[in-house]
Amino acid sequence: MVKLIGKKINCAVFISGRGSNLKSIYNFSIKKNANIDLKLVISDNSYAKGILFAIKKNIITKIINYKNKSEAEKKVLKFLSEYNIELICLAGFMRILSRKFINKFNHKIINIHPSLLPKYKGLYTHERVIKNKEKYSGCTVHFVNDRIDSGKIILKEKIKIFKSDTPKKLEKRILRVENQLYPKAIKKILSKI
Ligand code: GRF
Repeated sequence: MVKLIGKKINCAVFISGRGSNLKSIYNFSIKKNANIDLKLVISDNSYAKGILFAIKKNIITKIINYKNKSEAEKKVLKFLSEYNIELICLAGFMRILSRKFINKFNHKIINIHPSLLPKYKGLYTHERVIKNKEKYSGCTVHFVNDRIDSGKIILKEKIKIFKSDTPKKLEKRILRVENQLYPKAIKKILSKI
């Protein structure tokens, strides 16, 4: 996939909201031996909390109006090319990428999902997991293909569900695990090159 010849991989993170995974990817990127350079943050939401974080850290941010998806993706592709982006990390980005877009960045787009994929694809995972009285849940980092939450799995981590768990409590515990797992998954795919 991504070519790494003793250099850093230019990375873009796509967000729509809070940005805790963006923060963990950024913290990883500034470590001494990190092999990514976080060049760009793309968001479809100008109110995303993660945007404030990116601005504070002097990362270039681009807010994209998604009213017209095809136009929006054209703009995104233009920025990705302008900043020579080689890896896209989706981190709470609430838009579905078109097949055309994914094909252009084949094997270079990864995502984090708050369940043990292939179980519980899509939204409201924590609610569904608790309703089904699952014993475990967790999170998964995977490559993005043209089917939702279905690409090849890179890493996943499991946690136990307690009787006292609510969707909110579970979300909070899993998010902490997500924030650790995302940089590990990036390291894993880049070390294979
Ligand atoms: C995370 O739970 C992630 O798994 C899901 O969206 C949420 C984003 O959280 N895809 P944050 O914005 O990174 O804090």
